[in-house]
Amino acid sequence: MDGERFIASHRLPEDEEPPTLRPRTFDEYVGQKRVKENLKVYIEAARRRREPLDHVLLYGPPGLGKTTLAGIIAAELGVRLRVTTGPAIERAGDLAAILTNLEPGDVLFIDEIHRLARAAEEVLYAAMEDFRLDIVIGKGPMARTLRLDLPPFTLIGATTRAGLLSAPLRDRFGVIHRLDYYAPDELEEIVRRSAARLGIAVAPEAARAIAARARGTPRIANRLLRRVRDFAEVEGDGTITLAAAERALDRMEVDRLGLDLVDRRYLTALMETYAGGPAGLEAIAASIGEDARTLEDVVEPYLLMLGLIGRTPRGRIATERAYRHFGLAPPRPPEEASAAGDAAVPTLWDAACDG
Ligand SMILES: Nc1ncnc2c1ncn2[C@@H]1O[C@H](COP(=O)(O)OP(=O)(O)OP(=O)(O)O)[C@@H](O)[C@H]1O
Ligand SMILES: [Mg+2]
Repeated sequence: MDGERFIASHRLPEDEEPPTLRPRTFDEYVGQKRVKENLKVYIEAARRRREPLDHVLLYGPPGLGKTTLAGIIAAELGVRLRVTTGPAIERAGDLAAILTNLEPGDVLFIDEIHRLARAAEEVLYAAMEDFRLDIVIGKGPMARTLRLDLPPFTLIGATTRAGLLSAPLRDRFGVIHRLDYYAPDELEEIVRRSAARLGIAVAPEAARAIAARARGTPRIANRLLRRVRDFAEVEGDGTITLAAAERALDRMEVDRLGLDLVDRRYLTALMETYAGGPAGLEAIAASIGEDARTLEDVVEPYLLMLGLIGRTPRGRIATERAYRHFGLAPPRPPEEASAAGDAAVPTLWDAACDG
């Protein structure tokens, strides 16, 4: 058992076909201004003190740039990045093998850290706090604890579910940042940069249309751009005009708010089957045949951000805005519906989404 459980040691895994669109420096990393500025300070301070950067926890919905940011942090620190995931570490021994293979200053990135096995998590406590490894050898009265010193390192944990992290683990991170959905302007910039890197000609209004339907998510913006290009090349002359982009986006069944089929099935079930709610997550999941956890991690955060649904102690409700989006009449007085959800809508989105 050696470093086998690293899924990559120098390169980050790509979630897309080459050429890579993954930013490599803070300058290329669009948006998340506050997170970036703070991280730059912590990195500079650690560098001056010649200490490893304190452990960093990044959380937020999928595709917002957690893995990308981990890569940039290691590059800025000028250290090696080792990458693994929570589910890949099944036993305490797996983690011990990884930790003892680290070199001083290394960044260890654990993706999906909320899925780390309990026994492994406990090993991590002392490793994070004192750069020490306590391994129990043997069982019962014969058990002995072996103590090993580890090189100082920085752990970067990423999760879509910060709520699932145990308090002792969460408390051992000195830096905790939540990544938020990107504003339309930022996504537009990402689309423009990606198009330039891929050598695709995109009209400014087309870039804006793609950005508006990207669900606030850079990964989705890049994916839509590539698919729009496919349509433009096969069914047009290859140039991405506004009309070409909108036609392609309609063909992909991504609507004006960036909602896809699953989002729409969720909302339709809530509005029609459950008369606008309140309805429990499990009930909604069962009626549309989707996994409740996926709905909670991927679907609901975006619907909540847009103010299409609200959460109440008795379950999820559809807001007036949701009914309006589907051209339906809301079943309850508008004041009640808006009190439950519309108040939380960031104004940035209003201009871009309420066309
Ligand atoms: N701030 C950004 N600027 C430009 N592009 C970005 C940014 N953040 C992410 N991307 C693009 O989006 C893609 C997805 O980002 P990344 O893999 O870092 O997301 P993630 O948060 O780790 O997602 P997951 O939770 O699914 O692991 C990257 O490959 C990159 O191309
Ligand atoms: Mg990731």
